This record gives sequence, structure tokens and C-alpha cells, in this order.
Amino acid sequence: MTTNEDVIRFDRATIHYRDRVALHDITLGIRAGEFIGIIGPNGSGKTTLLKAILGLVPPVSGSVRVFDCACERLRCEHRARIGYLPQKDLVDPHFPITVAEAVMMGRYSSIGLFRYPGKADRAIVSEALTAVNMVAEAGTPLGELSGGQQQRVMIARALAQRPEVLLLDEPTTGIDTPTQHAIMELIRRLHRDLRLTILFVTHDINLISRVADRLILLNTRLFAAGPPSDVLRRDTLAQVYGKDIVVTDHGAAPYVIVGDHHA
Ligand SMILES: Nc1ncnc2c1ncn2[C@@H]1O[C@H](COP(=O)(O)OP(=O)(O)OP(=O)(O)O)[C@@H](O)[C@H]1O
Ligand SMILES: [Mg+2]
Repeated sequence: MTTNEDVIRFDRATIHYRDRVALHDITLGIRAGEFIGIIGPNGSGKTTLLKAILGLVPPVSGSVRVFDCACERLRCEHRARIGYLPQKDLVDPHFPITVAEAVMMGRYSSIGLFRYPGKADRAIVSEALTAVNMVAEAGTPLGELSGGQQQRVMIARALAQRPEVLLLDEPTTGIDTPTQHAIMELIRRLHRDLRLTILFVTHDINLISRVADRLILLNTRLFAAGPPSDVLRRDTLAQVYGKDIVVTDHGAAPYVIVGDHHA
């Protein structure tokens, strides 16, 4: 279902890479301010869904509309309203750039590549660093940070863009459990304080199910979309992850264990 109030609307959208179907017949509406978790096995089209929202991969049939615009070009003005944290974007340790410079890169979609950042841009960068608790590291070379700290900087860079929609592709993968929880808590707070619309791709079903308003279960097709307790049913998940899936009921929240089966 989609409505006119949705900020993102997929209407029977099918997306191919040459001869491979990455997403098939997706109809989905996302309202402003929603926190959406996107789950599904490897190759199920999660990253492709985010790229479609960014206008990087246009649908071969159906439509994808963002802010009520069919943004099929990267240069569409609406692109600046979407912050994007790509999957596995950790930096080369020798890349000569400080934390503050990396976050300033988030300003370039607004100030243009060939102008110098002004006082207001520096204030926004410092605000973004405060939000992710990295002010003390502003002058540190990016390559000297740990993976979790780099992820915080990447989140700050996306925030410095002052986005309305934030797309996060596996921001907690490869990060230790306490830091995963800290990043999740940070994103939850940003969602609440800045009223961002968030799409969060992850394989950690139990981490996301505690914070997302709705989960979207993909496997090329859209298998389910709804509140976590509706989506995390054994029979629904088994269609995508195979029959080895176990769902236990920990009081109010379902707890999911994905077995060895590879879909
Ligand atoms: N640039 C590309 N060229 C060709 N095929 C691609 C390209 N990117 C993705 N694909 C294919 O499209 C399908 C969906 O890929 P996608 O990256 O969206 O999956 P994903 O759900 O993000 O997986 P993962 O959990 O591994 O990140 C896969 O079959 C993949 O091989
Ligand atoms: Mg992916």
C-alpha cells in the first residue's frame, strides 16, 4: 500500500542489473519519520532498494518516487535531502584526512564542490561530531580510528548533510556487540531528536526488531512489511531463510535464530 503522504513510494517497481533481477514487483510506501528495518539474506536486494531510493538504479518497470519526484538521476536536487551510509565504507588507513575533514565532506552537496566551507558549515560539522560523541577526535587522522569510531564519523558525515531521510546499509556489521548497541542507541536518538526518516539495513534481526517501527523482509520480492511482531513469525521467515529458522517468544518480543540453511 502507498499513500500520498509517503516520502518514499515504490509502485510495482522491478530493478535489474543487466540480466539479473535484483528486486521484483515491489510496492511499498514509507511515511515521514518512520524507522524502518530492512532484512533479508545475502543478495536479497537490500542494498539495491537503497540505491533505487538514491536514483542510482532506475526501475525497468513500475516507479520509485522520493519526495514525490521520480529521481532517476543522481543530480536530482532531492539527492541532498537523503543521507547515505554505504555498506562497508571503512577507509584506507593511509588516506590523509582528519575526522573533521571527513565530516565536512557531508556539506559539499549543499555548498558545492568548488566553494570553501564557511562558518555555518563548520558549526554544522561540530554539531554532527557532538551528536556522535567524536568531538575530541576532530583532528585525528581517520585511518587511525577503530572500525566502530569510523562508523560514527560516517554517521556524522551523513548528518552534516542535514538530511530528512537517512539510509544506513549495515552500519553495525563487523563491530563488537557493545559498540553495535551504542551505534543503535545513537541512531535511535537521532531519529527521535531530528525526526529523521530512517531505513536501516541489517542482518541482526534481534537488534533492529527492538527499535524499528516496521520491518521489511526482502528476498528479491517483498515478503512482508509491518510491525516487528507481525513480520517475525516462523512461517513468514521460513519462506526466506529456510526451515531451520527458530523464533522464540521472550515475553513481548520475538527472538529469531537463523539456522545454517542458506536460501
Ligand atoms: N552492480 C551490480 N551488477 C550486477 N549485479 C548486481 C550488482 N549489485 C548487486 N547485484 C546483484 O543483485 C542482487 C541483489 O544485490 P544486493 O547488493 O542488493 O543484495 P543485498 O541484499 O544488499 O546483499 P548483502 O546482504 O550481501 O549485502 C544480487 O543477486 C547481486 O548479485
Ligand atoms: Mg547489501
